[in-house]
This record gives sequence, C-alpha cells and structure tokens, in this order.
Amino acid sequence: MSKATIDDIDVAGRRVLLRVDFNVPLDNGHIGDDRRIRAALPTIRTLRKRGARTILVTHVGRPKGKVDARLSVAPVAQRLGELLGVPVPVAADVVGPSAQALVGTLGDGDLGMLENVRFEPGEERNDPELASRLASLADIFVNDAFGTAHRAHASTEGVAHILPAVAGYLMARELEVLGSVLDNPRRPVVAILGGAKISTKLGVLTNLMTRVDRLHIGGAMAWPFFRAKGAATGRSSVAEEEVTLARDLLDRMPDGRCTFNLPVDVVVAGEVRDGEPTEVVSWDAIPDAAMVVDVGPATVAAIAASVASAGTVIWNGPLGVYEIEEFAQGTRGVARAVAESDAVSVIGGGDLASAVEDAGVTDKIDFISTGGGATLEFLEGRVLPGVSALRDRVAVPG
Ligand code: ADP
Ligand code: 3PG
Ligand code: MG
Repeated sequence: MSKATIDDIDVAGRRVLLRVDFNVPLDNGHIGDDRRIRAALPTIRTLRKRGARTILVTHVGRPKGKVDARLSVAPVAQRLGELLGVPVPVAADVVGPSAQALVGTLGDGDLGMLENVRFEPGEERNDPELASRLASLADIFVNDAFGTAHRAHASTEGVAHILPAVAGYLMARELEVLGSVLDNPRRPVVAILGGAKISTKLGVLTNLMTRVDRLHIGGAMAWPFFRAKGAATGRSSVAEEEVTLARDLLDRMPDGRCTFNLPVDVVVAGEVRDGEPTEVVSWDAIPDAAMVVDVGPATVAAIAASVASAGTVIWNGPLGVYEIEEFAQGTRGVARAVAESDAVSVIGGGDLASAVEDAGVTDKIDFISTGGGATLEFLEGRVLPGVSALRDRVAVPG
C-alpha cells in the first residue's frame, strides 16, 4: 500500500515538523555535494506555498549524542536558504528554549531549522522522551528523509507514532521508483553491483538474484568470488570470511533464473595512486605483486551489451577506484552505456552518484536515489522503520 503524502493533509497555518536527510559531505563547513538538499526542495516549496509553518530537522554526521560545533546544521541551512532565496534561521538547540522560541516566531509559509538532531543523546536510542519533545513543537510530522529511513530514531520513527505522519514528495518518489524496479520492472532486469565490502552488500545480492535476470559484479565486490573460484587476487587482500560468503552464494545461486557475471578481465596496478602504470589481465591471471583497480575493457563491453538490451538497470557501487582518473575508465564506460540505453535506469550509492557525475551523464539516468544504506536495505527487501511508521494512503471509496 502506498503512503499518505502532504497532498493528503491540510497544512495551512499548521506547524509541520519536516524530517529531511541533509547529511551531506562537509569539509570545513564547505558542502561538497548538495544533491540531498536539492532533492527536498519540492516538498519544502509546497509546504511554504500552502502556508505551513515548517520546522526542518536533520542530522549531520555522527556526533553520537554530543554537541560538536563542526557538525552544526548552519552550513546546510545556509545552502538551503540560497536555493530557496530566503534566509533559513537555525535554532541553537534541538528541543530546548531556542527551538521553542524559533517555532514561536514562524508565520504561515515561514521556515526554520533545528540544530543537528544527533546532538541529542536520545535520537539514536529512539528515546520516547525526545520523540515527545520533538512532537510538542508541531502539529504534523512529514518525513522526507528517505536516506535515514532505515534508522529507527526519535526523529524518524518515534515522533511518527505521536503526530499525524505522512511522506514528503522525495520519500514518496524513492518508494515508488525503487518499489517498482523490485516488484514490477520492465524486463529484462540487469543489476550491476560494485563498490567495496561484500559483507555489507550480500543481502542485496541475495535478494536481487531471485528477482533480476542478469547480475554483473565489479569493483572490490568481485575479489571474494575470484578467490571462491580458485583464482588469486595478488595484493588485493580478501578476508577469509568473505571468500566463504562468496562460495555459499555461488552454491545457492538459483539454476537458470538469473545469470551471474563476474569480470572476465581486470585492470591491475602496482599501487593505488595517480600515474601508476596499468595492465589488463584475465580474471584468473592476476600477478602476485599487483592490485586490482578496475574492470577491464572486455568486461565493460559485456556489461554494455547486457545494458543495451535491458528493460531496467539497477546499479549500486563503482566498478573500480573511480577517484583516480586512470582507474575510472570501467565505471565511466558502463555509465555511458547505461546513459545510451533505453532501459529505465536507477542508481544508488553516494560514490556511484559522484562517479556518474564525473562521467557527465547524470541527466541521462532516470533516477538517482538519495539513499546509501537505506537504498541497500530497501533493495534487500527489508521494511524500513521510518517508512512503516507513516500513515498508509486510504483509498477513497466510490
Ligand atoms: P557506493 O557509495 O556507490 O554504494 P561503496 O561505498 O560500496 O559504493 O564503494 C565505493 C568505493 O569502492 C570507492 O571508494 C572505490 O574506490 C572502491 N572500489 C571500487 N572498486 C575498487 C577496487 N577494485 N579496488 C579498491 N577499491 C575499489
Ligand atoms: C546516510 O548518509 O546514509 C544517512 O544520512 C544515514 O546516516 P548514518 O549511516 O550515519 O545513520
Ligand atoms: Mg560509499
């Protein structure tokens, strides 16, 4: 069932607590990528236009329940203000006197932001006391923080049980797009999984292999599979547990349903650094002294061909060390193939979004999820606590 949204409630003159995920990369107060802020603009603009008194709440980083001035929301409020063309005042606390005073100053259509909600020790514990103090600031709760929906925290889950709670447009769109690629996709469905750490992505692999038609593996995700198939991976080290996980997964692979494709060739280098000479080798001939840094051209061609005939492409994680120009070619080649394909394309993961941006094809991708962990958990088929706490949309009879 789909979730009720801000279109299902009357917000005029009401105080709306709007949970957003403005956890963006911050370097000394400088915002690297403001995609998450821009993605919430439609909800914020609509609430303003409809005369809501909007109180934004987000976390930034992991301050672990303590005030840390380096993780203040001030820079994200500033950027939001620039994007909207109005200043966004920030409270000096989360639910204290400053927050209450700020809420008191809001007129219809105004907005303000609470300080980093993870400065409060109760946030990550989902403390009912904090949830009720957050709820006391508002009349309605709107959750647009898809990226944090996998966390059952006071500002994502707890408060949703106290106030009438609905989804914002970004949350609704994420659920609609990711839900449809899992449940009702245009076939054939091709999934590409790269990046690092098979242990964190194993659940995704396990769920996708029962749903998609072709799986392609790249990045450091491929190494444990190489080892499980008896090949060496040079100085690209793999934990024994990961080899065991890969072996189990290969054993459990359902027959005939889904084809499972590992890289056939890889790019290797002596070190992971700029300007290192590279060499392309077969997946089962990785030299002892080498490190695997990218997928090779034959692999890119195979993935490109698969993508060209796909109905849907789901892609998570870069296929090589894309941060280094010489090792970014595999990811870029596949990004161009996805951009050129007629398939519905959905990508997730902060690193992959940057890599696709570097490849200059962002506007040719149908949907770039704002979630990292949340997108992975959704693709694993898990229920996200921040989503289940929201109201279901009630079908109007007749
Ligand atoms: P995402 O954020 O898109 O979900 P991950 O965080 O799982 O992706 O992985 C991204 C990281 O994986 C990048 O820092 C990239 O350099 C690294 N990576 C990809 N391929 C390799 C490789 N062959 N060797 C080392 N690191 C790799
Ligand atoms: C993210 O960046 O994935 C979300 O903002 C959640 O952050 P967290 O992993 O610190 O809970
Ligand atoms: Mg990442």
